[in-house]
Amino acid sequence: MENMGAAGPNNDILDEIFNRTINSKSIFLNRDVLRNDYIPDHILFRDDQISQFGSILAPILRGNKPSNIFLYGKTGTGKTVVARYVTKKLYERVLKLNLNIKFLYINTRLASTQYKMLVELGAQLDISLPFTGLSLSEAASRIFEKMKRDSINTIIILDEIDYIVKNYDDNILYEFTRVNNELLNGNFISIIGISNDLKFKEYLDPRVLSGLSEEEMVFPPYTVDELEAILTDRIRAAFRPGVVSESAVKLCASLAASEHGDARRAVDLLRVAGELAEREGSDVVDTDHITKASRSIERDRTYEVIRSLPLHGKLILAAVLAAPEDINTGRLYSNYTSMARSLGIEPLTQRRISGILSELDVLGVVNAPVVSNGRFGRSKRVKLVVPREVVSRALQEDELISSILK
Ligand SMILES: Nc1ncnc2c1ncn2[C@@H]1O[C@H](COP(=O)(O)OP(=O)(O)O)[C@@H](O)[C@H]1O
Ligand SMILES: [Mg+2]
Repeated sequence: MENMGAAGPNNDILDEIFNRTINSKSIFLNRDVLRNDYIPDHILFRDDQISQFGSILAPILRGNKPSNIFLYGKTGTGKTVVARYVTKKLYERVLKLNLNIKFLYINTRLASTQYKMLVELGAQLDISLPFTGLSLSEAASRIFEKMKRDSINTIIILDEIDYIVKNYDDNILYEFTRVNNELLNGNFISIIGISNDLKFKEYLDPRVLSGLSEEEMVFPPYTVDELEAILTDRIRAAFRPGVVSESAVKLCASLAASEHGDARRAVDLLRVAGELAEREGSDVVDTDHITKASRSIERDRTYEVIRSLPLHGKLILAAVLAAPEDINTGRLYSNYTSMARSLGIEPLTQRRISGILSELDVLGVVNAPVVSNGRFGRSKRVKLVVPREVVSRALQEDELISSILK
């Protein structure tokens, strides 16, 4: 057996990689500015939203309750970054004025269940809720008790709020919207809901909807030119001068605008392309790197989205996968129902499944019927819009689901 010795070819390869890394200058100045949670110094093209949002929240500095607000817009239109930027600035004032106001932030998709959402919100208020054992309303009451006891006013940002509502229900929002009138003893909670789905309102009970959407703001997609400007600004902070070619920036902007002007996709493409270039030992980022990055992001994203779906989302997707090409919604629902039953799982109602399908549509996994009032449209068809192989691989990771795929 050759190639096995400590000084064999394997070792040479590593030596070369390590030496190259030590000897070459990184193409990056600061790769952190390409991270998803980075809040840039300049938020471009969003002056109107920033000032509107700031004006709605400003009364809090005089001790008045701001209206609840809904922010809508497709992914990558700057909702999260604007909300975080404005609340960060506001919080600096709150500290200066010594006001007892807390800002809580939670991404409901990452929290994944309504209960975990509450546990995390509780943690941000320094109370620890048990991981199981309480009902939702008990857990919520403990949070409200704490706010009352410490006389805290709160602003709660519920990011990607559509996730929790479509995959579960709006009970938790109901708790939050009705609480002001009762439990809080003069303190207030203002809710900032952020949704990637404009049709999301159809899933809310009218009581919850009217409570939550006292004010609404819409974030339009960016144009290609706007994306190019956002990228150029970010490149200046992220890369050494001259690393990213002009044609790479243009390609990046146009790929990110191909569905709707999505700044997240633009920044992700740039980050992955930069990493690819660095790994190749290239000292420029060119169109090739952007193209490769685009392919790899698309696959990873689909895979991650599917892997992190709740059980019924995976089940309905397994039913779509089992269908030959596209499938009628009624048929799909009955296939889903029998799959669920075969696993001893109680199927969800057609209305809930319709919500989940619409979420999968928003996530770009399937093409699903337009929903109205959460019901199936008439004789609409559902089909996969991502590679079957990726869907199947991601679903296989779930033991329960993989047992029915075979
Ligand atoms: N107007 C903007 N100026 C600079 N960067 C932006 C702007 N809008 C979005 N971004 C960047 O694009 C990415 C996605 O934005 P984000 O606010 O998370 O979008 P959304 O919450 O609408 O999906 C983030 O990296 C963010 O920093
Ligand atoms: Mg967001």
